[in-house]
Parts: sequence; structure tokens; C-alpha cells
Amino acid sequence: MTSYLVILRLIKKGAEADIYLTTWNGRKSILKIRKRKKYRNEILDNRIRTLRTIREAKMISEVKSFGVNTPLVYFVDQNKFEIYLQFVPGDLVRDLSNKMIIKICEKIGKILGTLHKNGIMHGDVTTSNFILTSNQLTILDFGLAQRTEKIEDHAIDLRLFKEVLNSAHVSIVNQAWSSFLSGYGKIVGASRKEKVISQVSDIEKRGRYANVV
Ligand SMILES: Nc1ncnc2c1ncn2[C@@H]1O[C@H](COP(=O)(O)OP(=O)(O)O)[C@@H](O)[C@H]1O
Ligand SMILES: [Mg+2]
Repeated sequence: MTSYLVILRLIKKGAEADIYLTTWNGRKSILKIRKRKKYRNEILDNRIRTLRTIREAKMISEVKSFGVNTPLVYFVDQNKFEIYLQFVPGDLVRDLSNKMIIKICEKIGKILGTLHKNGIMHGDVTTSNFILTSNQLTILDFGLAQRTEKIEDHAIDLRLFKEVLNSAHVSIVNQAWSSFLSGYGKIVGASRKEKVISQVSDIEKRGRYANVV
């Protein structure tokens, strides 16, 4: 008799998904399971979880074809809302030294520029969604990614990243932001970059007015 022992180690309980460290065919793997939201109607909830599971797997593979580093997708079980991904060793950008974060922000800008240039918005650009492995930067977490060419949507990605720098990395926000913009501009070009930045300012203005009211 053959018996299989599958070891799962919970490494993160997220709002949307739980993340486990496990193996897939002998390879170190990350298992992402989208959880049931009790407040949502069950049929609707199943549909949302199926959609996001499939979308994440598709987007990860598509983005890879642009030459951006993402984990390999080992296996998708849409009925169980599960994705097995290649385990990417290294450090989250969030946990790097300030000096390193400033430097890596240019690479983040290039990666986001490449996504946008190919009509993909990431939807959750944070320093916890990038892993640095020696010299290589990998982008994770495509559950909220969308296909869109719109400047307004691309600006939302930039705006979110700026907010993350402002809250999680406040002492280096200016240097990190200009490093990011420099990388972004190298990929999308100066004119597109200015248009997106101007849209980011618009969003910020609207935010301020909304706070006043
Ligand atoms: N392929 C991977 N390799 C290594 N660590 C990963 C991988 N995928 C996710 N993680 C770890 O799990 C965390 C959460 O995963 P993520 O896909 O971003 O889900 P969430 O939607 O909860 O943010 C990441 O910040 C990272 O620490
Ligand atoms: Mg994440």
C-alpha cells in the first residue's frame, strides 16, 4: 500500500485567501486557497472565487510571456478554488533595507510599466507583492488584475503604490517614488508617464475634496 503524506504549513491567513507552504510533485510550492465569505450568497460566492482563481492563474501565465518574472503555475483546481504556485525564495521588498527599497523601486516601476504597456492593470501593487531573489525581482498576486488600456486604471495602480510608500515606507517615500517613476517612464515613455502622473494628481485632488465634505 502506498501512503501519501502531504505537509501543509499555513504561512498567511489573508482576507481573501489562505496561503500554505507545501509541495507539488516533489517541488516546493505555495498553495493559495480562496476562502468562503459567509456574508455572500453561496452561489455568488462560489462564482466569484472560481472567477478570481481562474483569472489569477491566467494572468500569471500571460504576464510571464511579457518577460516579467512571476511564479510558475503548477496546478489549478477551480472546483476547490486552489492554485499551486512555484515557491519563490527570497525576501519581500517590504522587508528590505531602505537603501535597497529605493533601488528596487526602479525595477518595480519597470515591471508595472511593462504590465501597463501590455494592457494589464495589477490591482494590488504593494511591497508585499514583490519578492527579491538575489538579483531577480518577481511579482505576485494577480487576483485583482484586469485587462485595461485606460490611463485612469493605470493611474489607480500608481496611486495605490504611492499610498503604500506613504504608509509603510514614509521615511523614504520621496526617493522611492522618484526611483519608481524613473523605471516606469523608461518603459512607457515620457509622454505616457506624464499623462498617468497627471491622472494620479486628479485622483488625489478628488480624494482631498471628498475628505473635506
Ligand atoms: N509563489 C510564492 N513564493 C513565495 N512566497 C509567496 C508566493 N506566493 C505568495 N507568497 C507569500 O504569501 C503572501 C501572500 O500571497 P499573495 O498571493 O500576495 O496573497 P494575498 O492576496 O493574501 O496578498 C506573499 O506576500 C508572500 O509572502
Ligand atoms: Mg498579496
